[in-house]
Amino acid sequence: MSTVSVNTSLSVRGVTSGYGQVTVLRDASIDVSEGEIVAILGANGAGKSTLLKTIVGLLKPSTGSVEAYGEDVTGAAPDRITRKGIVLVPEGRQLFDSMTVRENLQLGAYTRPRSEQAESMERVFELFPIVKDRLSQRASTMSGGQRQMVAIGRALMARPSLLLLDEPSLGLAPIVIQETFEALKRLREDGMTILIVEQNANMTLKFADRAYVLDRGRVTMDGPASELAADPRIREAYLGIHTEQKAPLDAGAPAPSSDES
Ligand SMILES: Nc1ncnc2c1ncn2[C@@H]1O[C@H](COP(=O)(O)OP(=O)(O)OP(=O)(O)O)[C@@H](O)[C@H]1O
Ligand SMILES: [Mg+2]
Repeated sequence: MSTVSVNTSLSVRGVTSGYGQVTVLRDASIDVSEGEIVAILGANGAGKSTLLKTIVGLLKPSTGSVEAYGEDVTGAAPDRITRKGIVLVPEGRQLFDSMTVRENLQLGAYTRPRSEQAESMERVFELFPIVKDRLSQRASTMSGGQRQMVAIGRALMARPSLLLLDEPSLGLAPIVIQETFEALKRLREDGMTILIVEQNANMTLKFADRAYVLDRGRVTMDGPASELAADPRIREAYLGIHTEQKAPLDAGAPAPSSDES
């Protein structure tokens, strides 16, 4: 068992969570240390979004605990968790379409003093210059990639120390996905701690330091991202790479190279 150290950003212990009578997450435990990039992989319906929603207080766990920067925030209201520095970029962006880009960004700053807003926005523009040109447009007029920028920008307006991203590449063209990951890499270089859920396992395992696999609500594997990327089970289930032989003796043999690593 890992022990909680001073530089632990997030510690989820034995969390069971779901929707009313429906239990989705079962006894799930994950840790994120400061400065780490951690990925969550899992099939559709595995409970990835449920895990993120439970961390940020949108769902209350029925058992287990969530600790943010050393403080127990189990069952705490979302604004308290935001104030602790943990902010979610939700699946499907969840922008307010009829509002302008500026208004969407401002919503993200609701826990922060107004005096900070201009500076926070400048930081968003540094990362996503195009957002600055579109400030007075309605969010509905933006392309998918631009909407993702606004969604990430809105989260950054809360000045998070730990950014949670739920499938940021979903529905985006390959070139736009690459741009999104480039932006995430710049955030990483600036010291942001990131917990990312992704269907794009290939890119995500290259980006992350560590990863967990969720299978039907349970954490079934975890380890360094490079190790998981080389694991035949991960390669088959999440990278779409089929190793020819599954015998243990062949586990170390090079797999067919359909990716560039
Ligand atoms: N609001 C809800 N009410 C009831 N059940 C829900 C609700 N949201 C999700 N579920 C169910 O919980 C399970 C896990 O959902 P979750 O959204 O966490 O999966 P996921 O791993 O994020 O999947 P995906 O890759 O499709 O986003 C699914 O079976 C889903 O149908
Ligand atoms: Mg999801």
